Amino acid sequence: APLQARNTFGVPATADLMVEVRDAAALPDLFGNAMLRDGPVLVLGSGSNLLFAGDPPGVVLALGGQGIAIVEDDGDCALVRAEAGVDWHALVLWTLGHGLAGLENLALIPGTVGAAPIQNIGAYGVEVAECIDVVEAFERGTREQRILARDECAFGYRDSRFKREPERHVVTAVRFRLQRRAPPRVDYAGLAEELAAMGAEEPRPSQVAEAVCRLRRRKLPDPALTGNAGSFFKNPVVSEAAARELKLAHPGLPVFPAASEDERKLSAAWLIDACGWKGRREGDAGISERHALVLVNHGAASGAQLLTLARNVAASVRERFGVALEPEPRIVGAAW
Ligand code: EPU
Repeated sequence: APLQARNTFGVPATADLMVEVRDAAALPDLFGNAMLRDGPVLVLGSGSNLLFAGDPPGVVLALGGQGIAIVEDDGDCALVRAEAGVDWHALVLWTLGHGLAGLENLALIPGTVGAAPIQNIGAYGVEVAECIDVVEAFERGTREQRILARDECAFGYRDSRFKREPERHVVTAVRFRLQRRAPPRVDYAGLAEELAAMGAEEPRPSQVAEAVCRLRRRKLPDPALTGNAGSFFKNPVVSEAAARELKLAHPGLPVFPAASEDERKLSAAWLIDACGWKGRREGDAGISERHALVLVNHGAASGAQLLTLARNVAASVRERFGVALEPEPRIVGAAW
C-alpha cells in the first residue's frame, strides 16, 4: 500500500500490508495472524510525527475508532474518553465546546488521539500527560486489552513507555480528566501578548485555544502546504553546569528549566539558527524559513534526503556547541 498520502512529510514509502481497524475489539483476533503476531507492526495515526527514511518492514496498522464521550461528570470535573482514530484538534474543539478546559494550549497540534500519549505532545507550557487519566492499550504479548494509569506510562518530555517500547502496545483510546473551571495557563512566552492583542483580558479556554492557533499559524509551516512533521529535534537537556558554560559563551541562548533540578533545557531552534541553517535547502529537503526546528519537504524530497539533511544539521550543532540533538519524530526504515 502506498504511504505518501499518509505521512505529513509527503515522502514516498510502501507498506507490504496495511490493515485498518475501526473496532479495537477486533485486535485480539487480528494479532492471532502470524504476520502480526511475530513480525514488526507499525501503528500509523495521521503520519504527522514520523519520517519514512525507507519502507516500514511488516504490517502497517491504522486505528479508525472515532468515538468521543463523557464517561463521568461531577459538575467540576469530567472524564472524556476518545478513541485512537479521533483527530487531535477535533477533540480539543469538542472538549471546549462542552465547557471543558485543559487541552486548549494543545490546539492545532497535528495527529490523532492515539498518537498523543506516545510522544506526550506538548505546546505553550502544557503537556498532554497532565490531563491524561488512563491510556487504554492492546498488549501484543498477552493479546489483552490493558488500562494503564498515568503513573504507569512513564511520561517525560516528548517521551513515554509507548515510545520506548514501540512494539509492545497499541493505544486504542485515551481518557482525559478535564475541568470546568481551571485557571488559564498563559505563562509561555508570547501567549499572554497574543491574548492581549485579541482583547482577551481574562481569557476563556476557547480564547486561549484561539491565541495558540494564531501563534502556530504564524510560526509553523502548514503541513497541508509544505511537508513537515513539526519540530524535528527535541530541545536538548544538558547538565546545569554545561548550560551555564554555554550561556556565558553565548548570552543569547534561551535556557529553560528541565524536569530535574540539576539539568536545563536548551532551545534547539536557537542552536540550529545560530549555525545558519534557517531557510537553507539541499535539493527539496530544507529547514523552514519560519522556524529553525522544522525540517521541510519543498516538493520531491525523499525521506532519505531529509534524514541526511537532519544529520548534517545535528553534526554542525555538535561541532559548534558540543550539544547532541535527538530527532523528535519517529524515524522508520533507518537508524538515527
Ligand atoms: N528560536 C530561534 N529561531 C527560530 C525559532 C525559535 O532562535 O527559528 C528560539 C527563540 O528564541 C524562541 C525559542 O527558540 O524563544 C523557542 O521557540 P518556540 O517558542 O517556537 O518553541 P520551541 O522550543 O522551538 C517547542 C516545541 C513545539 C511547540 C513550541 C511551543 C519541542 C521539540 N518543540 O518548540 O512543539 O509548539 O515549543 O510550545 O519541544 C512539536 O513538537 O512538533 C512542536 C512544534
